[in-house]
Amino acid sequence: MTSQPLVGRTLVRAALQSRPRRSFIIHRVSEERTRSFTSASANHRSSIGLRMSLLLRSSIRSALILAALPLAAHAAPPTFHAEILPILQRRCQACHRPGEIGPMPFLTYNQVRPWARAIRESVKLRRMPPWFAERASVRFENDPTLTPEEIARIDAWASAGAPPGDPAQAPAPIQWPQGWFLPKVDFTVVMPRAIPIPAREELDYQWMILPLGFTEDRWVTAAEIRPGARDAVHHIVAYIREPGSAWLRDQPAGEAFTHPGVTTSDILALYTPGTGPMLLPAGMAKLVPAGSDLVLQFHYTPTGRSTRDLSTVGLTFVKDPPEKRVLTLQMGTVDFYIPPRAANHRIAVFGTLPGDALLLSLLPHMHLRGKAFDFEIVEPGGRVETLLRVAPFHFYWQLNYRLARPRLLKQGTRLRFTAWYDNSANNPLNPDPDAGITYGERSRDEMMVGFFDVAVDPAFDKPAFFNSRPR
Ligand code: HEC
Repeated sequence: MTSQPLVGRTLVRAALQSRPRRSFIIHRVSEERTRSFTSASANHRSSIGLRMSLLLRSSIRSALILAALPLAAHAAPPTFHAEILPILQRRCQACHRPGEIGPMPFLTYNQVRPWARAIRESVKLRRMPPWFAERASVRFENDPTLTPEEIARIDAWASAGAPPGDPAQAPAPIQWPQGWFLPKVDFTVVMPRAIPIPAREELDYQWMILPLGFTEDRWVTAAEIRPGARDAVHHIVAYIREPGSAWLRDQPAGEAFTHPGVTTSDILALYTPGTGPMLLPAGMAKLVPAGSDLVLQFHYTPTGRSTRDLSTVGLTFVKDPPEKRVLTLQMGTVDFYIPPRAANHRIAVFGTLPGDALLLSLLPHMHLRGKAFDFEIVEPGGRVETLLRVAPFHFYWQLNYRLARPRLLKQGTRLRFTAWYDNSANNPLNPDPDAGITYGERSRDEMMVGFFDVAVDPAFDKPAFFNSRPR
């Protein structure tokens, strides 16, 4: 997604010049061509094995439930209004309603009825709701996974011919916000000019600078990017360009340009399909210093028809400085080569955290050949904790995994992020298995970045954090 190969380059170079030992650097990048995804994680079951056994387990469990309740199961199947609609409201309508990314709305019985079998399939195979955390040592606040009981209920309902039941038993419809998801938006900024998106040709990343006009520092607790051309937006990142920054100074504001760039600027917010707005926990905020600009990075994917994107950013402020300042960090590499037809190419990066930080969220970023991604802590004795394994990784779902409870990472914590790529012809998204792949911004090039939000002492900005020295 970026630009800022973590902690990779500029930042680290700056940090190295001042205090080599404490900088957060990649000290090893390993690319192993031969080790497979499964053998690389010898002490875990393979991703497929694990998923199969989860599926089996949940179907065994639902079979047991049904077996244990023969009367209930025979008596009356679940009905749409009483039992199915509440699940759809809670887990599906965020996307499956007009104007959102789900291709069909699931608000009423008539809308849902034709999809009953497809819904049963998609939930039993755990394709829906989209969520790709295969295993994790932490819990996620935005985990939408249906319980085995909910899946069994949908299964029984669809199998019984999708009965509607009594509308009087339906829950009240959810009042979905018409515009913003955020309950309160204090400030909005709109692109002054739309970006045209061609029907078929894939654009390089587009960039646009939006001056904010803040005359005083602002603490931002929530931020939302609302894409204009929702179906064509793969992601949008909003960077904070602080007033002294030389980054993109030669580019005009308010106009689209392309710029294969590297930046040390902090990220304010990002939009990807399926990821809600940034809503920070109480007492936490991101700082947007007076005089800052937003620099937006757009990745569009062609939809088959030409369109235009006019996106908007909304921000919510808090008056007082927060207890913790939130920074978006990233660790990854731009220095790799994925050979033609490699089915399990592995790239790992390591880093040491320069200061204490509360971990808030994790977001892996790869392109079309991305297959799986691990976020791990390597303890001093060598024990490995898998914070999160995303498998299978899916390019169209750049999900952000937000921890249910912030996790303290002490200064000196060793992090290892590992990415696996499938450049074989078996990868249905692979545009060209015969190509050797290097870093690049287009979907047919690759990236290897793990983003993670941390909360730190508010006296730190990003460079200071990497030097572990308050500003
Ligand atoms: C984060 C957004 C999102 C959520 C939440 C979501 N969907 Fe979807 N759904 C989509 C999108 C986008 C597609 C079309 C692309 C695709 O198939 O992946 C889709 C496609 C589908 C399809 C048709 C394709 C298929 O996989 O069979 C069904 C059925 C479906 N969703 C059911 C559900 C159900 C049931 C839920 C809730 C339990 C749900 N979805 C939750 C976004 C979502």
